[in-house]
Amino acid sequence: MKTKIFCDIADLKLIKFFNKKKIVDGFTTNPTLMRKAGAKNYKLYSQQILKIATKKKISLEVFGDNYKDIHKQALKINSWGKNVYVKIPVVNSKGLFMGKVIKELCKKNIKMNITAVYTSQQVSKILKVINKKTKIIISLFIGRASDAGKDPIPEIIKSIKLSKKFKNVEILWASVREPYNYIQAKQLGCHIITIPPSIIEKIENFGKSYDKLTIETVKTFLNDSKKSNFKIDY
Ligand code: E4P
Repeated sequence: MKTKIFCDIADLKLIKFFNKKKIVDGFTTNPTLMRKAGAKNYKLYSQQILKIATKKKISLEVFGDNYKDIHKQALKINSWGKNVYVKIPVVNSKGLFMGKVIKELCKKNIKMNITAVYTSQQVSKILKVINKKTKIIISLFIGRASDAGKDPIPEIIKSIKLSKKFKNVEILWASVREPYNYIQAKQLGCHIITIPPSIIEKIENFGKSYDKLTIETVKTFLNDSKKSNFKIDY
């Protein structure tokens, strides 16, 4: 099975650049990335993204914090493009499970990316409220879990196993920290991994031999010692 690569991004110039790459199957954004990219008007900015990436899947996140707002925002965001997946947080900021709104949107066949998921228990709760038809991505935040000293691998393994009976569900490895995460995601059978631009470029250059790596490393240290004019008297 192929593990699709999405690009985790909101900068318009970079989206233009990565949209041309064959290795990239889609895009994920979030409000933090949008803010960093300088987005002021959420709708207009999202539509600019959609004008660039017309064919690849794009996840655009709601920022409502209750059922009503999330539901309304999801319907609007969904109407912006056929390739849109509406990103819905698994819980709101008070920790309340958003199952009710996920269920309702699923009935309306709104494609969703359920985000900020950390455990297989959360995945199991999501699977209980969805149908077997509407396309759903479930994003597990592997990097942030390991940033917190947790081992996220058992959680993603269980999540993949749990979702096996749902042909409409794809498990996404989110929150990538290093290029090797792509190899891990492939080995585990993740459907998708979303990767920041700089790490995608490193993945494109996979395959250097240990000999080449060791020489490159030594050269870098040598060059820097020369640039700094380091000297030891002897
Ligand atoms: C996924 O959809 C998220 O936008 C992303 O992977 C979060 O990554 P981070 O933890 O590096 O911010």
